[in-house]
Amino acid sequence: MLISYYLSVWLHIICAAFWIGGMMVLPLVLIPGIKNNPEKRQVMMITGMKFRFYGYIVFALLLLTGITNMYFRGIHFSWEFFTSSRYGKLVTLKVILFVIMMLAALTHDLFLGRKAADKMDEHDRIQIRRVARWTGRVLLLVSFAMVYIGVLLSRGG
Ligand code: HEM
Repeated sequence: MLISYYLSVWLHIICAAFWIGGMMVLPLVLIPGIKNNPEKRQVMMITGMKFRFYGYIVFALLLLTGITNMYFRGIHFSWEFFTSSRYGKLVTLKVILFVIMMLAALTHDLFLGRKAADKMDEHDRIQIRRVARWTGRVLLLVSFAMVYIGVLLSRGG
């Protein structure tokens, strides 16, 4: 195997770890950690914005390295391959889940970016919290599924 193939899979795994790690750190570590902080809304907003910025870079890198993983493995891209072979079908499933992830992330960000935090009334806040919680859950579950499919792909499952 080429060194470029290993580097591509390596970067793919680093990006997946960053994305999933970041998504778990926010609700499990940051939010409980600043529970009693009077500036907590501000801290969450700024941290969320920073993570959003890197999140979209990581999404782009996951898509790119997902494609290069296959290219360096010597896979011939064709409609037949993506619809008939087991490997191709798993990749197609990954692409569908990737689109769902993008939609969930965009919904999450559009809702949160709709109004400045200090201009929201209580009703807005409850609604936004609900959407953020559900899109966050969908994102995490789909990401776990993507990793599982990645494990299957790597091990010929
Ligand atoms: C459309 C986007 C994606 C494509 C096309 C894609 C494609 C692939 C391919 C082809 C492999 C197998 C690499 C090999 O062993 O040769 C792989 C592995 C992997 N993928 Fe993705 N992937 C995508 C997105 C993601 C996302 C969003 C995640 C997680 C959040 C992810 C996590 C992983 C992991 C952890 C592995 C390595 C598994 C292992 O080596 O055991 N992938 N991916």
